[in-house]
Amino acid sequence: MRLHHVIRAQQFGRNVLAEIFETASEMERIVRHGGSDLLARKVMATVFYEPSTRTRLSFESAMHRLGGEVIATENAREFSSAAKGETLEDTIRIIEGYADVIVLRHYESGAAERAASVTDVPIINAGDGPGQHPTQALLDMYTIQKEIGHLDGISIAMVGDLANGRTVRSLCYLLAKCEDITIHFVAPEIVQMKDDIKEYLTKHGIAFVEESDLKAVASKVDVIYQTRIQKERFGDRIEDYNRASGVYIVDRHLLSVMKPDAIVMHPLPRIGEIKPEVDGDHRAAYFRQAQNGLYIRMALLKMLLCNE
Ligand code: NCD
Repeated sequence: MRLHHVIRAQQFGRNVLAEIFETASEMERIVRHGGSDLLARKVMATVFYEPSTRTRLSFESAMHRLGGEVIATENAREFSSAAKGETLEDTIRIIEGYADVIVLRHYESGAAERAASVTDVPIINAGDGPGQHPTQALLDMYTIQKEIGHLDGISIAMVGDLANGRTVRSLCYLLAKCEDITIHFVAPEIVQMKDDIKEYLTKHGIAFVEESDLKAVASKVDVIYQTRIQKERFGDRIEDYNRASGVYIVDRHLLSVMKPDAIVMHPLPRIGEIKPEVDGDHRAAYFRQAQNGLYIRMALLKMLLCNE
C-alpha cells in the first residue's frame, strides 16, 4: 500500500496501521544500531506556524536518523513570508520545489488539506489548529499496542480539554477502526467532546459514555489519556480557561485506584494535570509515548519516501 499525504486519522485502515507499526518496530532496531542512510539525499521541510517541541524535533530527528536532510521554518507565522501576507497555498507551492516531503503545523483547522490540494509532494499534518493531529494518534495507538499488548477490547478514559484538543479527536477516529472499544469522556462542562466525533463513534458502533467522576472511571479503564486545557484556543475568555483548568488531575491518589496493568498517557506538554509524583510509577507511559513518536515518524517517512 502506497502512502501519500497524511492528513486525517480516518484515512488509515487496520492493514495500513499494522504496516506502520511493523515498520516502526523495524525503526526501533535501526535506531539501536546507530541509524541508516535509507533516505540519503531526500529533503524534509518542517513548516510550523504554531509552537512545538516533540512533534518538530521528533520529525527532524527521524529524518536525520534515516540519513536525510532537513530544512525548517519555525515560528512561520512571524518569520516566513506569511508575515508579509503570502497565502498558505503559495508558500506550499514554493516549498514543494525545495523538499520531498512537507511537515506542516498550522493554526487553522483544514490547513493541511488545503496544502495537499495544491501539491503532489506529500504533506504531513502535524496539527491543524483544533482540527486533527494524525501522527500523534498513530504514536498513541502504537503505545497502547506496545504497553497493553492489543488494541481491540480496550477501555480508555479521555480526560481534560476534549473540545479543543486535536489529539483526542484524531485518537477517536483511529479507535473507531477497532473492535469492542469503550471510551469514557471526562471533561469539564465547557470543554466536552464535540458532537461531530460523538456522531462518528455512534455511526461506527463504538461505545462511549460521558462521565464526571474521574476516580470512579480510573478504577475501570486500561488507559487514562490525560490532556492539557488548550489555553491558546480560549482567546480572551480567561475566566472560562480558569474554570476548566485544574478540575481533573492525575496524582498518586488516582494511581492508587487504577488497575495494576493500566497506563497513564498524555500527548504532552503537561501544565500540572499530571503531578510529577506519578512519573516514577511503571504505569506512567507518557515519556515512553513521546519516544515512540520518533519511531512512528521514521516509519511514516520511510513509507512516504522509499519507493522499493
Ligand atoms: C499536542 C498538540 O500540539 O496538539 N502536543 C503534541 O504534539 N504532542 C498536545 C497539546 O499541545 O496539548
